[in-house]
Amino acid sequence: MLWDTFIKEIESELDSMERDFLQGATIAKTVCPTDTRMVPKLIESFGPNDKEILDVMSDTVWGKPTLHHGHQVSLSTAQSCRYIKLMKDHFNIVPYKDLDHIVDIGGGFGNMYRILSNLGYKGNYQIIDFPIMHKLQRRYLKRICSDISNLDQIDLDMEKAIPTGKSMLIATHSVNEMPMDVRKKIEPYYKNYDYIFINHNRIFDGIDNIRYFQDLMNMLQSDYQIFDFNCPISQSHWFKLCLRK
Ligand SMILES: C[S@@+](CC[C@H](N)C(=O)[O-])C[C@H]1O[C@@H](n2cnc3c(N)ncnc32)[C@H](O)[C@@H]1O
Repeated sequence: MLWDTFIKEIESELDSMERDFLQGATIAKTVCPTDTRMVPKLIESFGPNDKEILDVMSDTVWGKPTLHHGHQVSLSTAQSCRYIKLMKDHFNIVPYKDLDHIVDIGGGFGNMYRILSNLGYKGNYQIIDFPIMHKLQRRYLKRICSDISNLDQIDLDMEKAIPTGKSMLIATHSVNEMPMDVRKKIEPYYKNYDYIFINHNRIFDGIDNIRYFQDLMNMLQSDYQIFDFNCPISQSHWFKLCLRK
């Protein structure tokens, strides 16, 4: 399994890189890409109604994320901001004001949590991830967020993610990287959420993700209105946005 190797490498990078850990080769490859060419196109996709999001589209010095040379924004931050815009546009909600509970499966280095907090999100936020990724998220977030008391880090046990109030499940570039047995354990829990926000690629570790997520949407379609589209900015990615009927 690819992630078994990544975990060991991430552990050693976290041990050896106290401040600039987002520059670690595997950390960068998995959660904070150095190829930032897509950033200008992502920024172009924002309009006049997105001012609040654009206002927080910036990165920290801490961790040293790789920034796009011209825009001085990381790919992770530009993408996360775009996800928030897509939530607004398709679900017709302001996620940082209208949600009570967010479960972020595979939260990377915690950048989505940071950005939503900067936008004023105060609800519960649970990140499901490997223990070493929780360590990375704590290293990153503790230093830069004044209060992370609404953050709960849990392992991949969906029983521990109990949504309360208006809830959203986020799975961007995460479930599509999991082995099939792990995905199967998540499947019964999607219907606990009012909103589901998924972004996936074509194939990972031999699994046909186009087919997998189509089958998942077939399971959800009686209960959700589904927006299923290829990303116009990066055509190797697909969105599955589900809004409870
Ligand atoms: C490519 S990163 C995506 C990070 C972030 N969601 C984003 O969109 O930038 C994949 C995330 O999924 C997590 N992940 C992958 N396989 C996992 C598994 N089997 N169990 C738990 N988390 C997993 C990784 O640790 C990482 O946080």
